[in-house]
Amino acid sequence: QRPLRRLLSCPGTVAADLRREEQSSGSAETGSEDRTPKKRFSEVQNERREQAQRTVLIHCPDKINEKKFLKFLSQHGPINSHFFYESFGLYAAVEFCQKESVTSLQNITRTPSLGPEAAIPFKSRYLNLKLRNSLNQTSELSSIQCSNQSSPSSKKLYQLLCCAESVDDQLNTLLREFQLTEENTRLRYLTCSLIEDVAAAYFPDCAVRPFGSSVNSFGKLGCDLDMFLDLDEIGKFTAQKTSGNFLMEFQVKNVPSERVATQKILSVIGECLDQFGPGCVGVQRILNARCPLVRFSHQASGFQCDLTTNNRIALKSSELLYMYGALDSRVRALVFSVRCWARAHSLTSSIPGAWITNFSLTMMVIFFLQRRSPPILPTLDYLKTLAELLLKEFFEYFGNFAFNKNSINIRQGREQNKPESSPLHIQNPFETSLNVSKNVSQSQLQKFVDLARESAWILHQEGKDRPSPSSNQPWGLAALLLPSVANNMSLSKKKKKPASERIKNLLDSIKSSGAENSTATNGR
Ligand code: GTP
Ligand code: MG
Repeated sequence: QRPLRRLLSCPGTVAADLRREEQSSGSAETGSEDRTPKKRFSEVQNERREQAQRTVLIHCPDKINEKKFLKFLSQHGPINSHFFYESFGLYAAVEFCQKESVTSLQNITRTPSLGPEAAIPFKSRYLNLKLRNSLNQTSELSSIQCSNQSSPSSKKLYQLLCCAESVDDQLNTLLREFQLTEENTRLRYLTCSLIEDVAAAYFPDCAVRPFGSSVNSFGKLGCDLDMFLDLDEIGKFTAQKTSGNFLMEFQVKNVPSERVATQKILSVIGECLDQFGPGCVGVQRILNARCPLVRFSHQASGFQCDLTTNNRIALKSSELLYMYGALDSRVRALVFSVRCWARAHSLTSSIPGAWITNFSLTMMVIFFLQRRSPPILPTLDYLKTLAELLLKEFFEYFGNFAFNKNSINIRQGREQNKPESSPLHIQNPFETSLNVSKNVSQSQLQKFVDLARESAWILHQEGKDRPSPSSNQPWGLAALLLPSVANNMSLSKKKKKPASERIKNLLDSIKSSGAENSTATNGR
């Protein structure tokens, strides 16, 4: 067992430890085909960013000859990888081996003449491929294999879940189906890289880095793309040290506060994306929010993007979650299932409001894992035997949590008295005076607790009367995700509280009798 404190104090070492552990024991031992991260966070970020810089995004005609297309591009240098996908048309992301190839390709690319309309010239890496003699080529055109960028339909998900062998298997299936694919991850880094090209018009040497669920290993296909305009490279602290009596400083414009600086920077970048950014539509500048941001859709990739700046802490949070996710695939499987469960019951929403956010939910899962006995994220083998139980016990844990008086503290892995009266209090691990779930209302929290109890109950029943796979009846996780659970809940809305209390009491009594026999696991 690995004490959590050690984890937090030297993240790089832990990631490396894990990698060694995986290598020596053979990753097949974990028995799951997911993409649990094994590399250091900064390593991944740097590699992916560099890869994105060697990549171009090409809007293609609906049918093309793949071989000829690649041959045409490889005149500019060898191609390392490529994939096609569909998003209002056919697109190709093509990664060259060398950055110079991109410049070479840009040099033979022209700015279109659009008849009566006028084009604002901008040499980006987002290109348009046209066929010169489409008539002559028709016979050689073929349909292209496209990589999928969206999550499975509910129908397909239920089918997959119902065919699984155990709840453990269901959790892993859900993870496998929803986690970001290699191609989707590349597309996220590429989109950031394309936005960086636009921002570099104002701030040469800036970096646009993805953060949040796109990189913290808890991202679901279709999740938004959070990006962060990093100006630290240009910032005052990075200059090389000089000796002697003289000190050089840049002449700059001063503004009253960091917040005003952030607003001004985002304001011009937002304007720039709106006016000149190829493929950026619906640009909104939300500068008075607690964390000012520019929101837009990147049409070619299909991502909803949130661009912020001066937001290093968010990048740190992403790294922290990434580390937790790297410990074992079960951590991610649990987080994915809890997130999907919350989404299925409208506990979370893509619209901001009084609901619990995915970020808060993830923190709750981590806290729950810290509070288990043994009180830390345990060894791989131990987690493996627990995987199935964890989901049920997660619901039980928070179904019984004293939200009225206690706050969740991930930094110390313990509950503590709430410093203020918000219904849900989760201390921000980096800015400890802040509550990451300040927005959550009492009624939303109550809904969460009621659903958690109901779901614990369903999982408790599961195993006793599981339907046969051929009946296609939802069971286990599939039953938890069915909207009908929510409907049943809302039908019993009037007596909601007693129902919820009743379930809690039932579970408590079963648990205490189970403890006497010390076999609360149904032997699974
Ligand atoms: P999705 O719902 O899949 O987008 O999850 P997400 O983790 O990307 O959440 P979201 O897009 O809402 O926020 C992006 C990142 O911002 C999170 O991963 C956190 O790092 C950070 N973040 C979000 N909400 C808060 C908050 O209330 N406080 C702090 N300190 N950081 C937050
Ligand atoms: Mg996000």
